[in-house]
Amino acid sequence: MKVLVVGSGGREHVICSCAAKSEKVDKVYCAPGNAGIEQVAECAPIGAMEFDKIVAFAKEKEIDLVIVGMDDPLVGGLVDELEAAGIRAFGPRKNAAILEGSKAFSKDLMKKYNIPTAAYENFTDPDAAIKYLETAKFPIVLKADGLALGKGVLICENFEEAKAGVKEIMLDKKFGSAGNEMVIEEFMTGREVSVLTFVDGSTIKTMTSAQDHKRAGDGDTGLNTGGMGTFSPSPFYTPEIEKFCEEKIFQPTVDAMKAEGREFKGIIFFGLMLTEDGPKVLEYNCRFGDPEAQVVLPRMKNDLIEVAEACIDGRLDEIDLQFENNAAVCVVLASEGYPVSYEKGIPISGLDEFEKHDGYYCFHAGTKLVDGQFVTNGGRVLGITAKGSDLKEARANAYAATEWVQFANKYKRNDIGKAIDEA
Ligand code: AMP
Ligand code: GLY
Repeated sequence: MKVLVVGSGGREHVICSCAAKSEKVDKVYCAPGNAGIEQVAECAPIGAMEFDKIVAFAKEKEIDLVIVGMDDPLVGGLVDELEAAGIRAFGPRKNAAILEGSKAFSKDLMKKYNIPTAAYENFTDPDAAIKYLETAKFPIVLKADGLALGKGVLICENFEEAKAGVKEIMLDKKFGSAGNEMVIEEFMTGREVSVLTFVDGSTIKTMTSAQDHKRAGDGDTGLNTGGMGTFSPSPFYTPEIEKFCEEKIFQPTVDAMKAEGREFKGIIFFGLMLTEDGPKVLEYNCRFGDPEAQVVLPRMKNDLIEVAEACIDGRLDEIDLQFENNAAVCVVLASEGYPVSYEKGIPISGLDEFEKHDGYYCFHAGTKLVDGQFVTNGGRVLGITAKGSDLKEARANAYAATEWVQFANKYKRNDIGKAIDEA
């Protein structure tokens, strides 16, 4: 069969690699892809939001399955448009992708169905939000309702900061229309865990756990980014916590979406915080995490295409999802200055080294080929992933591999997986 993957980051590079490995797949295309993806898939210069062009391309190439990697096209309804044209697609329809697309929706859903999450209020009126904040407990968390590249969350220490935050989100529209509505929620403390799951509308199967590092700097300092590195599994996600999450969070979320007439098929990514009062949902995403996918999918034993098709057909209960009994760590190599401003177009060397070593991967996030030379083309440039028999070995391997690659403004965090030492 022929598969088309939509997106252009490290996550899509992993997805394309899995698709290329599948026995069911003869040919992989990616729109728009990047220079690394080009090595496993044929890339087409079509943007992820150019729905008409994607549909036309899928028809022209007789694509059997489209996998939508990114949140924007899912929330915008790409799966609905593909299905309307008779093309099979993996990912939630628009009415289900709202689980990520609107934080106000997801908070109301959790409240209605008793799914543990932080206490909150939703606001469409900035004055009402500020009035509420006058008597609130600090720190407090402000969230733009819509998609904001993982950056629409402000943690405010006092009233003055929170008031400025309301202005930024709702009046200055720093995150665009994502700030037409806002969630104000209780500040929680605890360890964060990402759990990615496959969902077929009724059945949910969890993948191995992971932990992201969202801040740009060592010691969780600096601005929020898309993610600077991950490890998998999380040693803090114990079997007891897993059981609680399965009973109180995962299945209830799938059932709630069904009960609301918003049957969810695809990936639900649960962003959890392990608080003193038990696990609570920080956020839902409707796609694989990036860079969570870079440590989770290389450890998956199943054929991704088989699992995706089982989700679409409502047969996920027939799949025995299995992961390797090892660990993986991903360290992101970014451009100095990310996530604010950075130079692009800088030559990258050392990429050949990955072909010589099993269990090491270099997933491209922002790269381009210019006259046969790989150059940087984004804030996050590469995701360097390595496996190991345990987390410590995987971390040592991943950091060793970050030294194979050179580019002039290379930047990375040096403490990815530091939490492992506290486990
Ligand atoms: P989100 O995009 O909702 O996952 O938020 C981004 C990051 O902000 C999370 O990964 C947390 O580190 C932090 N965060 C979000 N909500 C809360 C909360 N209620 N309490 C504490 N930290 C939070
Ligand atoms: N790494 C976080 C995300 O993909 O949203």
